Amino acid sequence: MISYARKQPLPVGVTFLLVLAVTLRPSFSSDAVTTTSPPLPPPPPSNPERGDYNITNNGTVCLMAHMGLQLNITHLSRSTTKAVQVIVNLHPNLTTPSGACEADSSTLKLSEENINLTFIFSLNSTTNKYHLSGLQLSANLSDMAQPLIVSNSSLDYLSGTLGHSYMCRAEQTFSLGQNFSLNTFQLQVQPFGVTGDQFGTAEECDLDEDNMLIPIIVGTALAGLVFVVLVAYLVGRKRSHAGYQTI
Ligand SMILES: *[C@@H]1O[C@H](CO)[C@@H](O)[C@H](O)[C@H]1NC(C)=O
Ligand SMILES: *[C@@H]1O[C@H](CO)[C@@H](O)[C@H](O)[C@H]1NC(C)=O
Ligand SMILES: *[C@@H]1O[C@H](CO)[C@@H](O)[C@H](O)[C@H]1NC(C)=O
Ligand SMILES: *[C@@H]1O[C@H](CO)[C@@H](O)[C@H](O)[C@H]1NC(C)=O
Ligand SMILES: *[C@@H]1O[C@H](CO)[C@@H](O)[C@H](O)[C@H]1NC(C)=O
Repeated sequence: MISYARKQPLPVGVTFLLVLAVTLRPSFSSDAVTTTSPPLPPPPPSNPERGDYNITNNGTVCLMAHMGLQLNITHLSRSTTKAVQVIVNLHPNLTTPSGACEADSSTLKLSEENINLTFIFSLNSTTNKYHLSGLQLSANLSDMAQPLIVSNSSLDYLSGTLGHSYMCRAEQTFSLGQNFSLNTFQLQVQPFGVTGDQFGTAEECDLDEDNMLIPIIVGTALAGLVFVVLVAYLVGRKRSHAGYQTI
């Protein structure tokens, strides 16, 4: 009776955690192994490189944008005369930014060979809120049966407060109809009220907030589990001890 109480097996929860720790361990070592094995072909499409684009007004930076951009274009192929879908990443070192800053609107035009992509931001001076109100794409890829021109000037994306920057680390997709959508990666923009050549405090998109919630929830759940296991273990020990005393 006594020895049974003393040699009480580990609670199921502790065993579970141990099993978890043991099963998680090999995944770290296999990460290390992949560096020595032949590299797998990268899964297409690869994420675009992040570009750093500034627009200046009388020598001061008035618009700043930091982002990776990927175009998702559907067009008629000249060679096969069929509709094809292509993914085109903008290459920051081949991209020329231009644009202008005005009181209530600012423009960022990114030009690469055969591609012009223009962002139009609007500022509402009553509410001191800005947003991406327009996007224009003009593309003339080599296999296009005819140049593609798409624009929409009544958008409401990337909404932020004057003096702050808008940030979204997660991938976002802005669709402009059937033939064109824009994927953004690791984005931070400030189209108005840039002071001291740097971004104002960032206003983070909801997607990022959600992504941050997941580790918090997992962490809290694990901490809760450890607590429950501990309490169960202590109560179990006390019970068996108490049982021994009453007998
Ligand atoms: C491109 O757009 C098509 C349809 O619009 C969609 O099915 C596909 O997932 C998109 N691809 C990427 C990489 O965004
Ligand atoms: C991009 O804009 C430049 C300057 O306005 C123009 O010369 C060029 O043809 C445009 N390219 C495309 C693909 O529209
Ligand atoms: C600014 O925002 C207010 C409130 O949303 C709206 O009523 C007004 O029309 C906006 N002004 C402009 C110029 O868009
Ligand atoms: C422009 O985009 C808005 C919001 O996505 C959409 O409601 C509207 O129909 C679009 N306008 C045109 C002309 O495509
Ligand atoms: C944009 O401006 C910032 C702040 O002045 C500077 O650090 C950065 O190097 C500039 N980037 C480019 C591409 O000019």
